[in-house]
Amino acid sequence: MPAKVNLQLAVGPPRADGYHDLVTVFHAVSLFDQVTVNPAARDAVTVTGEDADQVPVDQDNLALRAVAALRAAVPDGGTSSPGVQVTMAKRIPVAAGLAGGSADAAAALVACNELWATGLTQQQLCDVGATVGSDVAFALLGGTAVGRGRGEQLTPALVPSTQYHWVLAFADGQLATPEVFTALDRLRGPGGYGRTGSPPQGGSGGMGPPRSGGGLGGVAPPGTTQLDAALMSALRAGDAKLVGSRLSNDLQPAAVSLFPALRKTLAAGLELGALGALVAGSGPTCAFLAANAERALELAVAMSGAGVCRSVARVTGPVPGATVVSA
Ligand code: C5P
Repeated sequence: MPAKVNLQLAVGPPRADGYHDLVTVFHAVSLFDQVTVNPAARDAVTVTGEDADQVPVDQDNLALRAVAALRAAVPDGGTSSPGVQVTMAKRIPVAAGLAGGSADAAAALVACNELWATGLTQQQLCDVGATVGSDVAFALLGGTAVGRGRGEQLTPALVPSTQYHWVLAFADGQLATPEVFTALDRLRGPGGYGRTGSPPQGGSGGMGPPRSGGGLGGVAPPGTTQLDAALMSALRAGDAKLVGSRLSNDLQPAAVSLFPALRKTLAAGLELGALGALVAGSGPTCAFLAANAERALELAVAMSGAGVCRSVARVTGPVPGATVVSA
């Protein structure tokens, strides 16, 4: 049940249903929550670990919602036992832009699918997951994948098995995803939509040294929801330096506007040698791409010394989606 970063996150205008159409390149990284399910009298969840006190344990809990959605999809699923006890050990921080809640939902789906022997295919599980949250289908799939629609329409990226080394900088605080999308709409203003055109440039957030014309948190340009061909070709080439130069996130200026300290965090990582930097999803976690494992270690040490974040973690990507680790 991995966390994710978005190597590209291009956001279109708000839709009638309140969501935004997007084009994104998801990338699963090696920061995992562990979720266990056991038969129980009724559905319940207990949470330990990182930010445990901030995870809801009622029906707002995404893992419990996933359990209910799966039960509804396979009516005989719960016959042997009326409920499940979900236990989660969290390492992915809450409301950090890393889709931790979606990872937990995906894990609960995979676990209950096994427990109930539903026989659903991965695609059917993804369809159930998509009803729980926009990022759940990707948390099931893992790897590197292009997401469209709300993010739930996935195409795995045909890329070589290059391992990328990342440093995640966890912020001292949280951001609520809907607020970040709303801030983006506000920054763009009423005239900011409807243009099509060039792939995202530096102003859409995300930044590597060759694209220094972009801002670390400048006002977002109009939405251009096109897949960044240069990013995809960098991924196909397995070229970390090129990938670093093409990282982009339309939500970044919005996240920085709500959490101005991120500007310093992003700048520090680049100054300390990252190949590229961007806000992870809706933030406030920042992700820095390093040239190799050694550079990642150096960067992690330097970042924690620089005092520009709460803590750091070294992760690699891509990693597989939610998997069963024991029967
Ligand atoms: O799908 P999920 O519940 O994860 O989305 C959380 C919120 O993020 C939505 O309620 C919406 O405000 C925003 N969102 C969006 N467009 C997307 C995905 C999420 O506006 N494609």
